[in-house]
Amino acid sequence: MTGKTFIVSGATDGIGRVTAMELARTGGQVILIGRDRAKAERVTDAIKRASGNQQIDFELADLSSQADIRALAARLNERLAHADVLVNNVGAWINQRRLSVDGIEMTLALNHLGYFLLTGLLLDKLRGAPRARIVNVSSMAHRGPQIDFDDPQGQERYSGWRAYQASKLANIHFTYRLAEMLEGSSVTVNCLHPGFVASKFGHNNRGWLKWAMILAQQLGAISEAKGARTSVHLAAAEALNGVSGKYFDKCQIADSSAASHDKDAGDRLWRLSEELCGFSYS
Ligand SMILES: NC(=O)c1ccc[n+]([C@@H]2O[C@H](COP(=O)([O-])OP(=O)(O)OC[C@H]3O[C@@H](n4cnc5c(N)ncnc54)[C@H](OP(=O)(O)O)[C@@H]3O)[C@@H](O)[C@H]2O)c1
Repeated sequence: MTGKTFIVSGATDGIGRVTAMELARTGGQVILIGRDRAKAERVTDAIKRASGNQQIDFELADLSSQADIRALAARLNERLAHADVLVNNVGAWINQRRLSVDGIEMTLALNHLGYFLLTGLLLDKLRGAPRARIVNVSSMAHRGPQIDFDDPQGQERYSGWRAYQASKLANIHFTYRLAEMLEGSSVTVNCLHPGFVASKFGHNNRGWLKWAMILAQQLGAISEAKGARTSVHLAAAEALNGVSGKYFDKCQIADSSAASHDKDAGDRLWRLSEELCGFSYS
């Protein structure tokens, strides 16, 4: 892996932080994407110290903001000759409906459009690598709903958990549709469920929900180290060369929900994403 360039979003905490650490241990260059300079500096220094790899640095962006994503991609496109691996890991469960700076429901903006736009803007750099990978961190929580195309931003009725589930389903639709688009190219794309992980996930919510999540994590969740294993596997395992368009759980290919295989829904989501981002992959 020496010489490879890894980009990891949501890398200043939780699953993303451990993913960045483990990728640093492979000897490649790792670029952490964070939103808080002081925290990003702290985590970058800690990863350098623990891994002994000095090729670690960070870029700042609020990944719910399309202007920030565009500025981030412009900086990465400027500084990198190519990118070998993009791990789209950032994500949150946002229980009270709120809007991003672009006026888009926040869960959709951060958890799905953030992956969609950043990947699209970095695709040429990924195509420039001899063999590149895109890894989308989804969740088992995608099971259950379908995307509600009549009300995709929860304007009429909002449930934070449903919006989260839909965003994680969107990660899988995005993976399957992008894999089709990239078929025959040097770029593969896969997605995964990391497990129920004792990270800071859900701690952004107020009141009893936050405490219920912390309790549930203490009682039944796996460690962040275990939670990062499938992401690291998809980013770095030689055995996965050429494997694309798959959903993984515990480092194994697994079945995603029937809804995630609905091609019409995948196409519709793609068109909606292009419209909401003002960006086209073609
Ligand atoms: N934990 C679980 O049980 C679980 C289960 C299934 C799937 N997942 C998925 O795993 C991924 C990682 O979650 P996690 O459990 O590691 O969560 P986490 O501990 O809350 O970490 C989330 C990371 O995302 C960053 N982030 C949040 N909002 C951001 C924004 N607007 N702009 C830029 N960065 C932002 C956070 O930055 P700060 O460090 O600044 O807060 C943090 O680094 C998510 O996609 C989640 O859906 C988690």
